[in-house]
Amino acid sequence: MKTKLDRIAKDTNHFLKRFLNRQTNSNLILVMKYGLFPGGKKIRSKILVDIGSLLSVDYKTLIAIGAAIECIHAYSLIHDDLPCMDNDKMRRGKPSTHIKFGESTAVLAGNSLLTMAFEILASPSLKIKKKIQINLIKKLSECSGHLGIAGGQYLDLSYEKKKISKKKIIEMEIKKTGKLFSFCCAVPAIIKNKNINEIKFFENIGSNIGLLFQIADDLIDFKSSSKIAGKKTEKDKKKGKATLISLMGYMNTIKYCDKIILKTNKRLDKYGTKSKNIRETLDYILNRDR
Ligand code: IPE
Ligand code: IPE
Ligand code: MG
Ligand code: MG
Ligand code: MG
Repeated sequence: MKTKLDRIAKDTNHFLKRFLNRQTNSNLILVMKYGLFPGGKKIRSKILVDIGSLLSVDYKTLIAIGAAIECIHAYSLIHDDLPCMDNDKMRRGKPSTHIKFGESTAVLAGNSLLTMAFEILASPSLKIKKKIQINLIKKLSECSGHLGIAGGQYLDLSYEKKKISKKKIIEMEIKKTGKLFSFCCAVPAIIKNKNINEIKFFENIGSNIGLLFQIADDLIDFKSSSKIAGKKTEKDKKKGKATLISLMGYMNTIKYCDKIILKTNKRLDKYGTKSKNIRETLDYILNRDR
């Protein structure tokens, strides 16, 4: 699993570096690169490749789309660390972007990564039909905006220091993190021109994987060390973040994660041995320590 993930991370980074180096130079390029490299597991690209292999989608196309997704993700982390949000000074084992370059520069580099994602998706070198390309752009916009990351981040912040129901916590985590995973899982089905039910089937798998990923991130904050995680841990409790751990405790949260994995694996049964990679990735998501 680890070697497969490392290869996908390497290929995604290679694509992004080439893309950035072909841009006209600007003051923000350096800051955007700081937000992208080094570090970052590239787990979203891995999910995209895993699901892509179920539907036999071309690897190079998946890496390009994965690169666009990683730009959105990097933007969301830069903004997530700002003082007006989580106010975190360390990310991926180094100073957060706003600590290194200042707040306004971090906001602008984040915006630029967000728009660069769409530049990548819209690029003519992507070997897919125009109509499908437009569908992908539309889907990624939905997953990033007020119904996705931005909307979820709004809820995350407004739930601080409040007693929030399990249903609402799950809804918030699906928006802030799950939607982008939903996109990753829907991409291969969209590219292969599958019908709406099949696309929904994969979107649903994606939002469950994303939910699992966010809960596992909350578990890392709860039990891991800053040194291993590369970011400050034990901060969610201090900030009064609404998480499943704060609501129902550590053990019940783990049990809930096991249920998500069981449910997702069941849905993947129809793909037989082809689903081995994605199953491995699910286990990795829950058992990782960073
Ligand atoms: C951290 O995401 C933020 C969440 C959405 C939980 P990752 O754990 O994927 O961050 P990197 O890219 O590997 O640093
Ligand atoms: C971040 O969640 C989710 C995003 C969409 C950026 P967290 O706030 O828990 O992520 P970390 O722990 O700072 O990486
Ligand atoms: Mg946050
Ligand atoms: Mg945070
Ligand atoms: Mg966290």
